[in-house]
Parts: sequence; C-alpha cells; structure tokens
Amino acid sequence: MFAFFNKNDPADKTDVQLDPQRVPAHVAIIMDGNGRWAKARHLPRIAGHKEGMNTVKKITVAASDLGVKVLTLYAFSTENWKRPSDEVNYLMQLPVNFFDTFVPDLIKNNVRVAVMGYTDKLPAATQKAVHDAIEDTKDCDGMVLNFALNYGSRAEMVTGVQKIARAVAEGQLQPADITEKTVDQALMTAPLAPYNDPDLLIRTSGEERISNFLLWQIAYSELVFTDVKWPDFTAATLQACIADFQSRDRRFGGLTDKK
Ligand code: IPE
Ligand code: IPE
Ligand code: MG
Repeated sequence: MFAFFNKNDPADKTDVQLDPQRVPAHVAIIMDGNGRWAKARHLPRIAGHKEGMNTVKKITVAASDLGVKVLTLYAFSTENWKRPSDEVNYLMQLPVNFFDTFVPDLIKNNVRVAVMGYTDKLPAATQKAVHDAIEDTKDCDGMVLNFALNYGSRAEMVTGVQKIARAVAEGQLQPADITEKTVDQALMTAPLAPYNDPDLLIRTSGEERISNFLLWQIAYSELVFTDVKWPDFTAATLQACIADFQSRDRRFGGLTDKK
C-alpha cells in the first residue's frame, strides 16, 4: 500500500494511514545529521544538537501517542568520545537540559525513562540527571523512553560474554546450557523484555550504516533509512517511517501467503 514511500522526503506524503494494530512495539532510532543540519545553516555543530534535543521531545510524545511500547534513541556512542572536547562536553550537558525541562511532560505522558550504556563513564552531573529522571518516572507504565548513552554494541557483547563466562567459571552455568535467551539476558536490552529487539530501526540523515548499534538485537528488524536530518524529523516523518514498516512482509525466515 505504501510502495511509493519517498525516502527523500517521507513526510511529503499527507495521506499516511497507519494500521493501529500493527504499530511497531519497539522503535529504535539512530538520530544522525545534527552537525550537517547546523552546517547547512552556517551555525556551529552544537546548534544542531540543541535543535535535535527539541526533536527528541516531539518524537517522544508522537511515538507515545501512536502506541509505541519502547522508543530507543541512540544519543551517544562509545566512539563519539573521538569528537572535539567542546562538542563532547555539550553532548554531555544535553541530558541535563533535556530532563530539567521535560520530566513533567514525560510524567504527563506516562513515559518511563530508561538508559543503556556505560553510564558510569559519564560526567557526574549527567549521571545524576539520568538517574533522577529514571527515579522521577519509575511509576509511569506507558511507553519506555530508552536512551543509549555511551553505548556501543561490540562493547555490550564483550561485557555480556564476560558475564556469561563468569557464570560458567563459578559453576552456575554449563556451556551446553547457553542459549539465545542466555545471550539476550546478558545484553543491555534485557530490562526491555519482552521488547528486547527493535521491530523498526530508523536512521536519519542519509547514512546507511549501523554504527555499532544493537547488532544482536536487529537480526530481524525492519530498517528504514531517510535523508531527513534529525533536527528536521517530525511526527509526520515518524508516521511515514511506520507506514513503510507496515508495508513490509516480515517473514523471519519462513514463508507467508504473499508471492
Ligand atoms: C548525531 O548527529 C548526534 C550524535 C552522534 C551525537 P551528528 O553529530 O553525528 O551529525 P553529523 O552526522 O555530523 O551531521
Ligand atoms: C551514530 O552516529 C551515533 C549516534 C547517533 C549517537 P555517528 O554520526 O557517530 O556515526 P558515524 O560516525 O557516521 O558512523
Ligand atoms: Mg553523524
């Protein structure tokens, strides 16, 4: 039905009709293109990150309204420390500003905050902002807003393997008893169960790569790449991405009636 999805400007479609029964439970987004958005406006890169934060607010509410159960947002990767320190410092300050201004809206929308990543390596003020937001929203039982903060999938897998190896070394687990579930439970998405794996993974800004995000968990995710840069991403773009998702035939290796 949505075969004419225009990846360049998906929100141009004004007649998007979503099937409320088939909204992806777990949507993950690689929020990319903040720097290029700013550069195109002759602004410093951090202006793009600031605008990107406003997009996070809008898309959180939009996803919650659509009935998404888990929204995972890739906010800072284990590789992003390679950036100039001014930019890193600004990115570390963003969660503080975000939660300072947005926790009341999160509560109003019944959204619970979660975080995955090596948060112990974040500056103290960032850690406090995140942990306070988790605490303040802990009774919300609507959508989970899951930030990937100092997250990298390979590091996550190494940590997971270490955890499993320790259980084996301590005699609590036999190697033959290690299953896919054991791995699921050792990864940072374990607390999201039963929605560990994204149904839909979106990457903005025209880059078509995964950049060390959820490598195990996206085995059967539907991937949507849009040229829209994150600060320009709107509720309508999200709806268009979900419409694209709904047009896909998810076979999980099996067969469906479709030829
Ligand atoms: C995404 O935007 C935000 C982060 C990675 C923190 P970028 O900062 O990567 O923007 P581009 O890719 O340089 O345009
Ligand atoms: C991925 O974007 C990380 C986040 C969105 C947080 P990057 O901009 O860091 O990815 P690369 O460097 O283009 O692969
Ligand atoms: Mg980028």
